Amino acid sequence: SRVAVLISGRGSNMASLLEAAARPDYPAEIALVVSNRPDAGGLKRAAQAGVPTAVVDHKGKGSRQVFEEELDARLREAGIEIVCLAGFMRLLTPWFVNRWNDRLINIHPALLPSFKGLDTHARALAEGCRIHGATVHFVRAEMDAGPIIVQGAIPVLDGDDEAALAARVLAVEHRIYPQALALVASGRVRVDGMRVFLDGEVS
Ligand code: GRF
Repeated sequence: SRVAVLISGRGSNMASLLEAAARPDYPAEIALVVSNRPDAGGLKRAAQAGVPTAVVDHKGKGSRQVFEEELDARLREAGIEIVCLAGFMRLLTPWFVNRWNDRLINIHPALLPSFKGLDTHARALAEGCRIHGATVHFVRAEMDAGPIIVQGAIPVLDGDDEAALAARVLAVEHRIYPQALALVASGRVRVDGMRVFLDGEVS
């Protein structure tokens, strides 16, 4: 499957997807990296890896709809079949989400449905969680609320501060996102309401 990765920042998850997709037996190719911000560090990483990049700047666009129509056009002209949000900090409207229904996935740095939204590591620490982690899910109109594909969990350690916890969760993200994309790209995922059924095990 031809995959686009949408970023807004450094793109470390994009980089781990690129690394995984470089393996000959991986069921997807990262065919395009798109950022809504021209200064996103991930654009350079993608270009260095020889991956086509594009910027669809949300600034100056009349509306979310105009931004999303341009984004959608770029994806379709590149023959994209699956879209991975990776540190993409724009909310997508139901129009875009529905057009890419069950072909649009996101990574969230928490064990959904806990800690939707921002500052997840600080919140997990503040709540005294013993377990924290990351989630790859299908995107739905409601933020951070779609059917879950893969999760990865780690213990919260007594000495953890936000930075230490964030670093350990990021390592989980870099492991589970390639796994989740491979499952979706190889057609081994069936969505039934909020449930996702996997044919075959997570490698
Ligand atoms: C990551 O924590 C990811 O979970 C969140 O954005 C952060 C930045 O990710 N969505 P990346 O390094 O830009 O991939």
